[in-house]
Amino acid sequence: MHEIHDLLRGHRSIRKFTDEQLSDETVADIVRTGLTAATSSNLQATTVVRVRNPETLGRIAEIAGGQKQIITAPVFLVWCADLHRTRMACEMAGGSMTSGMTEQFVIATVDVALAAQNAVVAAEAEGLGICYIGAVRNDPQTVSELLELPDDVYPVFGLCIGHPDQNPEVKPRLPIEVVLKEETYDDSGDPDRIAAYDEEMRQYYRSRTGGNKESSWSEEMAGLVDGERRPHMKQFLADRGFELR
Ligand SMILES: Cc1cc2nc3c(=O)[nH]c(=O)nc-3n(C[C@H](O)[C@H](O)[C@H](O)COP(=O)(O)O)c2cc1C
Repeated sequence: MHEIHDLLRGHRSIRKFTDEQLSDETVADIVRTGLTAATSSNLQATTVVRVRNPETLGRIAEIAGGQKQIITAPVFLVWCADLHRTRMACEMAGGSMTSGMTEQFVIATVDVALAAQNAVVAAEAEGLGICYIGAVRNDPQTVSELLELPDDVYPVFGLCIGHPDQNPEVKPRLPIEVVLKEETYDDSGDPDRIAAYDEEMRQYYRSRTGGNKESSWSEEMAGLVDGERRPHMKQFLADRGFELR
């Protein structure tokens, strides 16, 4: 197997960073590599806003529920799905963009995720650590205002990057049989496999927290999807030009 497999399988989110700074060129290189990801119809719907202003970082950390890594990471990037630039190009070519289509929202969001993950791999290959911050969507309106995002642009997630100051265990993933199916979606064996994974995750949490966290994957998922989560997103997206029709 190519050594990239080892790099990818060694991924774990890093939430504590050393003070060592990254040069602007390193950050630009990481983003540049990110942008080489495949992009739907060459749409290139990714815009990355680097935030350095301590006040803005503080506000975003507050919005994210006090996640300190947003302030302490040497680099904090907000990855945005951007159809504003698409509109600009369309108008430059004499066209007019039909906005609000769910399909456009999907492809723009997928574009951002692919580019960001490419950037993450590039950063990790340099020995850096990363942490995605989906919690910018706790209050995407305020984040959009802080970053002066125009209509047709929305913040998908933040990304902390820096030199790791911790070495957490790699978090186990679901068994391959649960994820990789043959021909059709057959989930008949999955309850047993998930139960085995739950036990593995229970051990992982125990070991990572010195016995302070007692949970399994199923319990985590129950907490995640039982109830409405960020119900403001639909209206927020509509207000930004992503009407989802
Ligand atoms: C889109 C996205 C948003 C995330 N948001 C947060 C976040 O706000 N805060 C955080 O600490 N981790 C966040 N994470 C990290 C996940 O919790 C983490 O990737 C997952 O638990 C698996 O752990 P690992 O990355 O260490 O393998 C996010 C990950 C993704 C992909």
